[in-house]
Amino acid sequence: MKSYSIKNLEQYFKQYKKSVQNPEKFWNKIAEENFVWYQKWNKVLAYDMTEASIKWFLNAKLNITKNCIDRHLSKRGNKTAIIFEPNNPNEPAQHITYLDLYERVCKLSNVLKEQGIRKGDRVCIYLPMIPELAISVLACARIGAIHSVVFAGFSASALTTRINDSDCKMVITSDGGFRGDKTIDLKTIVNNALDKCPCVEKVLVVKRTNTTVEMKPGRDFWLAPLMENALADHVAEIMDAEDPLFILYTSGSTGKPKGMMHTTGGYMVYTAYTFKNIFQYEENDVFWCTADIGWITGHSYIVYGPLLNGATTLMFEGIPSYPDFGRFWEVVEKHKVNQFYTAPTAIRALAKENVSYVEKHDLSSLKLLGTVGEPINEEAWHWYNDHIGKKNCPIVDTWWQTETGGILISPIPFVTPTKPTYATLPLPGIQPVLMDERRNEVEGNLSSGSLCIKFPWPSIARTIWGDHQRYKETYFKAFPGKYFTGDGALRDEVGYYRITGRVDDVIIVSGHNLGTAPIEDAINEHPAVAESAIVGFSHDVKGNALYGFVILKEEGESRVRENLSKEINQLISDHIGPIAKLDKIQFVSGLPKTRSGKIMRRILRKIAEGDFSNFGDISTLLNPEVVEEIKNGRIS
Ligand code: PRX
Repeated sequence: MKSYSIKNLEQYFKQYKKSVQNPEKFWNKIAEENFVWYQKWNKVLAYDMTEASIKWFLNAKLNITKNCIDRHLSKRGNKTAIIFEPNNPNEPAQHITYLDLYERVCKLSNVLKEQGIRKGDRVCIYLPMIPELAISVLACARIGAIHSVVFAGFSASALTTRINDSDCKMVITSDGGFRGDKTIDLKTIVNNALDKCPCVEKVLVVKRTNTTVEMKPGRDFWLAPLMENALADHVAEIMDAEDPLFILYTSGSTGKPKGMMHTTGGYMVYTAYTFKNIFQYEENDVFWCTADIGWITGHSYIVYGPLLNGATTLMFEGIPSYPDFGRFWEVVEKHKVNQFYTAPTAIRALAKENVSYVEKHDLSSLKLLGTVGEPINEEAWHWYNDHIGKKNCPIVDTWWQTETGGILISPIPFVTPTKPTYATLPLPGIQPVLMDERRNEVEGNLSSGSLCIKFPWPSIARTIWGDHQRYKETYFKAFPGKYFTGDGALRDEVGYYRITGRVDDVIIVSGHNLGTAPIEDAINEHPAVAESAIVGFSHDVKGNALYGFVILKEEGESRVRENLSKEINQLISDHIGPIAKLDKIQFVSGLPKTRSGKIMRRILRKIAEGDFSNFGDISTLLNPEVVEEIKNGRIS
C-alpha cells in the first residue's frame, strides 16, 4: 500500500491540505496506487449536493473481492485472514487463511449463481457472527449481488420489513445462534418473517446449533452439501465503481427504516484508507473490532477495511459477559490482539465489574484502542485508558455513521494528541462545518452547532434504496448544499471536534440507533393504548435508555399496569427487537402538545432526566396543566 500512511502530524496537515485544495487529485492518487481495477475511471468525481447526486471514479471497473482476497494470495495465501473465536471458549478458534477464504467465497459464489442469484439481485443475510456471515457478504460482492445484512437480534417483523423494502430474492441464515448461555432460534424467526415476503425464492441455511428446524421443501436448502459440490474457483463479476455493493438499514426519526445504499469503488477506497491510518495496521498485527457485521462498523472494519489491507481480522461470536466479564480480555490475550475497537457502552458495562477480570489477563499485545457508536464519557475513557491501555495505548474516538460508510472524524494514533471525549480532527478529505439555527456557518474555534459536511467523500451513501426523495430531504435539505449528519458538535480552542449527540428524534441506546416513531408505532398497536411518546434519558451503562409516556384508552385503565408494561415491551420486542425495549413506562392522562398538535419532547426529556429546573416557555402549550401531573408521576 503506497501513498497511504500518515506517520506524523506534519504529514497529516499536508495530506489534509492537499485533500481540501484538490480532492480529486488526492483521491485519484490513492485509488490509482493501492487497488486493482479492470479499468480506470475517466472522471474522479461528479456531484450535485442539492440533488444529493454523488458519483466517484466514474466508469471505473473493479471487483472489491479481488482487492480483498485474490490480490493477497501470492504473498499472503497462508496468512490468517479471519480468526473466528466462538461463543463457547472451549470450542477451538478457527484460523481462516486468505487461501481458505478465497476457496470458500468462490464456492459460495458458485452456489449463489446455481441458485439463480444474478448481478443486481438483493440477498438478505441474517446470520450470527460466524465465518459464513463474512463469507456470504464477500460471495455476494463477488457475483455482484447486493447484500443486505440484517442484525440477527432483529425480530421477525423487522426482518420482514427489511426484506420486502429491498425486494430480496434470497435469505442466508442459520438454524440458530449462540449468545452467551442462550441459543437463539434464527430459522423460526426467518420462517415467520417469510410468511409475508413473497419476493424470497430461496433460503440457504447454515448449520450452527444443530437445533431441529422446519425446512420448507423447494425453498430451503442446507448450505453445507451445496458447498461440498461447488467449485472452489470463480471468476469475479466485473462491476462498475457506482454499482451498488450493499444496502444496510438504519433507523430514521420517522417512518420505516432507511435502506442506506453504498456503492463499490468509493466505499472500497475510503474504508481501506481509513482502516490503515486510524488503526495504524502493520503486517503481522491482529485487529479486533467487537461490533456485529449486522452494523456498519462490522461491514467496514471487520470485513472490508481489514481485508483490503491484507490484515488479520478477528470475528467474535459471543458477548462480553460470558462465561464471565473477563471474556474480552481473555480473547485479547489468547490471540495477541494489537488493535481493539469497541463501543463505549461495552466499556461502561465492563468498568462496573471487578477490575480483577482485567488484571487476570496479559494485555501487553495491545498497541491502540478505539471507540465508536456514541459519545464516550470521561470516566469510561479514563478506565479504558488506565486499565486496558495501561496508559500506553492511544484511544481513537472515531465518529461516523451508517450513511458515511467510513470514519470521518478521529485522531490518528501516535500522531494526533488525544483529548478525552473528543473525536478530534477530520480525516483527510472530510470538510466538517458547524451550522447555526439560521443556517449560517459558524466560523472559528470555540463554537458549536449542527454538524454538516460540505464536500463529498468517496464512501458517502448514494441514496436510500427506492426513495431518493427521502434521502434528499433527510440529509441535504436542512442546510442546502451540505450533508447534515443529525448530530450536534462543538469545536474547542484548537479546532478539535466533540460530538454532543443527536439533534433529531434518534436515540442511541447501547450504541444502537433507534428512531422514536417506529417504537411509538409498536406501542400504539396495543389495544389499550391511545397514544405514546418516547424520549431518551441518561443511563450509566447504555448511554441512553428509553422512557415511554403512555396514554391509555379508557378500557385500559382498569387493567393491571405492570402487566401492561410487560405487554408493551413484548410488542416492541416483536416489532423491532429486544434492543428497543423501554426501561421506564409512565402512564399519563395527556402529553404536552403545542397548539398545532406537536408533542413537546423537550419537556418530556427534562422530566425523564429528573431535571425540573426550567421547562422554558410552555405558554404555547395546549394543555400546560399536564406538565405538573407528568412531573409528579415521574418514575425514578
Ligand atoms: O450520533 C452519532 C453516533 O452514532 C450515530 C451513527 O450511528 P450509526 O449509523 O448506527 O453508526 C454507528 C457506527 C458508526 C452518529 O450520528 N456516534 C457514532 N460514533 C460516535 C458517535 N457519537 C459520538 N462519538 C462517536 N465517536
